[in-house]
Amino acid sequence: MADMMDKIVSLCKRRGFIFQGSDIYGGLANTWDYGPYGVELKNNVKRAWWKTNVYERDDMLGMDAAILMNPKVWEASGHVKNFFDLKRDCKSCKKRFKDADLKDKSKCPECRGELTESRPFNLMFETHQGAVIDEANLIYLRPETAQGMFVNFLNILDSRHPKLPFGLAQVGKAFRNEITPGNLTFRTREFEQMEIEYFVRPENADKKLQEWIELHFNWYSDLGIKRENLRKRAHGPDELAHYAKACTDIEYNFPFGWSELEGIANRTDFDLKQHSQYSGKDLRFFDDVKKEKILPYIIEPSGGVDRTVLAFLTDAYSEEKVKDDLRVVLKLHKDLAPVKVAVLPLLKNRPEIVEMARAISKDLKKHTVAVYDDTAAIGKLYRRQDEVGTPFCVTVDVQSLQDRQVTVRDRDSMQQERISVDSLKEYLLQKLAG
Ligand code: GAP
Repeated sequence: MADMMDKIVSLCKRRGFIFQGSDIYGGLANTWDYGPYGVELKNNVKRAWWKTNVYERDDMLGMDAAILMNPKVWEASGHVKNFFDLKRDCKSCKKRFKDADLKDKSKCPECRGELTESRPFNLMFETHQGAVIDEANLIYLRPETAQGMFVNFLNILDSRHPKLPFGLAQVGKAFRNEITPGNLTFRTREFEQMEIEYFVRPENADKKLQEWIELHFNWYSDLGIKRENLRKRAHGPDELAHYAKACTDIEYNFPFGWSELEGIANRTDFDLKQHSQYSGKDLRFFDDVKKEKILPYIIEPSGGVDRTVLAFLTDAYSEEKVKDDLRVVLKLHKDLAPVKVAVLPLLKNRPEIVEMARAISKDLKKHTVAVYDDTAAIGKLYRRQDEVGTPFCVTVDVQSLQDRQVTVRDRDSMQQERISVDSLKEYLLQKLAG
C-alpha cells in the first residue's frame, strides 16, 4: 500500500497536480504547490462543499474572515494555553519528536541519542505585526478558521437576523507548527479548512451532531469515494479537544492507514462563553419564540481541503490492463474532474481537421472546462486525459469533415459514440449535469 502513495506522488508531479514547494531551491519541507490540474481539483472540491453546505440550504450563511486576528482571540479560545503537543528533543541530532509517536521515550529513533524530558510545544505560528518586533506586537497565524466565525457572531445577528438553528460556513487557510508533518498533503503546516459553525439550542445539540455526521459522511460518498473506504469513529474522552464535549471523525482508508478526514464536534457554548467574557460583549441570542436570551451550543463539522483532495485522488486512482498496456485512470466524479472535455484532432497535419477541432473546443469552452490538444498521437492523448480524469474526449477525424460527426469517448467504459457536431454541446452538457 505504501507503493500506492508513491504512485499518487508520481502522478501528481508527472501530470501537474501537486509539486514540492520551492522546488528549484531543494524544496521547503512539507510544503506543496498545486499545479494547473491540482488547483482545478481543489477548487472543484471547495465549490462542491459550498454548494452542498451553503447554496442548497436555507439555514447557512457564508463568511471569509481575516487570517490575522487580535491575539486576545487565541487567549479566549484557549489555544494559547491548551493548543500544544508534548515533544522531546534529541540532545545529539537536535531532531524533535512528538511524545505520542515514540515507543522508546528515552532514545532518539533516528540516531539513538539521548532524548530530553517531554515539554509542551505550542502549535501556533507566531509573527509580529508592524515595524517593531516585540512582545506587544506578537500575533498568530490562525490555527483554525472557526474563531473568525465566532468573533463575527454579533455582526451576523445584527446584519442578517437569522433564527436558530443556523450556521456559518468558511473555507480558508490555517497554520500549525506540526512536529511530524508528512504523507504528501495529509499533514502540513499550512493547509486549508472547510468549516461550519452551526448554532443550536443546547437541548438540540446531540440530535444535530448526528445529523451533520450523516450528511457529511454521505457527501464524500456522493462525490465518488467508495463507502468501504470511509468510516466513522467516535472520540474517547481522552482524545477530545479542550473545547469539545463529543466528536466523531470521518476517516478514510488512506494507503498509510485509516486517518481523519473531518472531525464533527459538539463545542457546546464554550466559545461564545469565552468570547463574551474576554470581549465584554453580550453574545447571547434572543430566542423570540421562547422569549429568552441563551448562549447557543455549536456543532462544528471541520474538514481539511488538502486531505480531502488527497482522498479523492487516491480513491479515484485505478490501473487497468488494456490489451498489453497498463491504463492509469483517475475515475474522479465529473464535478471534481479538473477538465471536463478534451477535443483532439486525429490528424494534426490536416488543417481542416485542426480547424474543426479548434472551433468545437472554442465553443465548448464557453459552457464547460474544455481543452484542445494536438501534441501527440491519439493513443497518447487519450492516456494523458485518462490520467488526469477527463470524463469525455471528442475526436475529430477525416470522416467528420464529410458527415459533421465526431467520436465521443467515455473515460470509464472507453465506449465510443458518433455524435453530430450540432448536438454535441447539449449531449455533453447533459452527461456532465446528470
Ligand atoms: N476547528 C476545529 C479543528 O480545527 P481539527 O480536527 O484540529 O479541528 C479539522 O482540524 C480538520 O482540519 C482535520 O480533520 C483535517 O482535515 C484538517 N487538518 C488539521 N490539521 C491539519 C494539518 N496539519 N494538515 C492538513 N490538514 C489538517
